[in-house]
Amino acid sequence: MSALRIRRATVADLETLAAIEGQCFGRHDPHDQLAAELSRSWAVIFVTEWHEAAAVEVTGFINVWRVADEVEVLFVATAPRFQRRGHARIAMQETLRWAAGDGARSAVLEVRPSNAAARALYASLGFVEVGRRDRYYDDGEDALLLRATLDAPAREL
Ligand SMILES: CC(C)(COP(=O)(O)OP(=O)(O)OC[C@H]1O[C@@H](n2cnc3c(N)ncnc32)[C@H](O)[C@@H]1OP(=O)(O)O)[C@@H](O)C(=O)NCCC(=O)NCCS
Repeated sequence: MSALRIRRATVADLETLAAIEGQCFGRHDPHDQLAAELSRSWAVIFVTEWHEAAAVEVTGFINVWRVADEVEVLFVATAPRFQRRGHARIAMQETLRWAAGDGARSAVLEVRPSNAAARALYASLGFVEVGRRDRYYDDGEDALLLRATLDAPAREL
């Protein structure tokens, strides 16, 4: 039987997550940054895990900050060979449900205008454009600021 599960990341996941981040964003050595995220009390990383027979594989992750009545989505990534199988959607939905249960009333994130895949994912989850940050990214591309109102029922992860 196969199933997709979501759980909190631990230090033991860092190498796998760094590899996925490298594949998805082309970053070199994101290990230390991810380790720093795990040490921050306001940061949470959830991983998606594909279970098939006796095998378990981490397929992606989502990194968020819980601050006041908001949850900020910093990164969401699915390893290329697992993309387009609904893993990021499940990760986002479960994370937003967890955040709502933890008191968050809205979710915010930045996205590149050129990132059609991520924009489609976020739009399907109710995110709407509320602003634009000029030359936000290192390469000079602007960022779109998106927000979603959270009204999902509380649920433990
Ligand atoms: C964006 C990303 C996280 C999507 O992950 P995923 O697991 O493949 O996404 P899902 O399978 O859950 O797709 C959910 C929806 O997103 C949209 N989507 C995902 N990939 C898409 C693509 N290549 N083109 C267009 N829409 C896409 C679709 O609306 C899709 O729903 P559908 O399959 O019913 O049409 C993945 O492409 C990725 O890791 N990209 C590189 C990192 C990145 O850009 N992250 C976002 C910025 S932090």
